[in-house]
Amino acid sequence: MSPPGPESTVDSSLDRDGSSRADTQVTGESTAIDVDGLRLVYSDGTAAVQGIDLTVPEGEFFGFLGPNGAGKTTTIKVFATLLSPTSGEVRVNGFDVRSEARKIRETIGYMAQETSIDPELTAGENVRFACEAYGVPRGERAERTAELLDLVGLVDVADKRAEGFSGGMKKRLDAATALVHRPPLVFLDEPTTGLDPKARNRLWEYFRRINDLGTTIFLTTQYLEEADQLCDRLAVILDGRIVAAGSPADLKREVGGEVLDVELEGGPDARDRAATIAREFDAFEDAAVAETEEGISVTAETARQYGTDLLVALRDAGLTVIGFNIRAPTLDDVFLAITGDELDTAETDDTRREASR
Ligand SMILES: Nc1ncnc2c1ncn2[C@@H]1O[C@H](COP(=O)(O)OP(=O)(O)OP(=O)(O)O)[C@@H](O)[C@H]1O
Ligand SMILES: [Mg+2]
Repeated sequence: MSPPGPESTVDSSLDRDGSSRADTQVTGESTAIDVDGLRLVYSDGTAAVQGIDLTVPEGEFFGFLGPNGAGKTTTIKVFATLLSPTSGEVRVNGFDVRSEARKIRETIGYMAQETSIDPELTAGENVRFACEAYGVPRGERAERTAELLDLVGLVDVADKRAEGFSGGMKKRLDAATALVHRPPLVFLDEPTTGLDPKARNRLWEYFRRINDLGTTIFLTTQYLEEADQLCDRLAVILDGRIVAAGSPADLKREVGGEVLDVELEGGPDARDRAATIAREFDAFEDAAVAETEEGISVTAETARQYGTDLLVALRDAGLTVIGFNIRAPTLDDVFLAITGDELDTAETDDTRREASR
């Protein structure tokens, strides 16, 4: 899904004490987003974005991954010129966010975290209304509307009012309205939060299609799988700072080694004890040990080689191993290694249930 043309090299260096540059050196061609030292402090003193450096080349599918309150929406609002940076330089489609905001608005699409469609209007009317708002010439509106409803799979319900639509249909309609002026760059702020897996998959299909047509996509998400499936490259944001950046494969490689998941009998006490044993286990140098819902998870270069020895040690300590598995790292493990915490999706799972009712 990378753009044809310029070769790009990724710098996925991770600076433990602060930010790492989510940089791509692009030879020649222009960049869609170029950020240098972006900070955004809200009027109440909340430092939502604390020094972000980022470059997204044209045509890329870029993911901005982070938990609730990490600063994703704030960053996207700066890019969409809805918030002015406290400090730092930000260029979007080559234009400066401070002095050329109007030009940026004309050349981007923005799908906000909250759906912005009008439930009183039909799907077709929503898109036509967006055409009007974005200044699509009158003579082109009908064709553009038909084209976009087709792109997001809503032709059959073009004349139905949006209020009766499912969460997934509303999101697809919202995505269509963000594209009416055929922007070369689209911002999608958590477009699939609250959707069931099937609805999410359908949206992914449309986003891929838009990207295949040449549109640069900047997507924020809390879903590691989404970032893994869709993104050429991603940055992980935590407390307003980028803490890791690179392709999903790069990030998984950075974790190093393999992961041994151990399922244990007993509650938190058993997990605590097992984690302590794993951390002190001599055969695992530099192992990352985390407690999971089922037991513990150990990431180490030698996980496969000495995994069974650890299982024996756990048993000797009186713990009961119910199951175990050795596997390659996922983005979940990347997140765990970076933050020491699992990306909490409990809240979004609730929202999902809510939305699917
Ligand atoms: N208008 C505001 N005034 C003050 N603080 C704000 C405002 N909007 C957001 N914040 C704070 O800024 C931080 C970043 O919020 P932001 O909405 O950018 O996070 P996010 O990554 O989009 O989170 P989520 O996944 O919940 O959407 C949070 O601490 C949030 O409480
Ligand atoms: Mg947000």
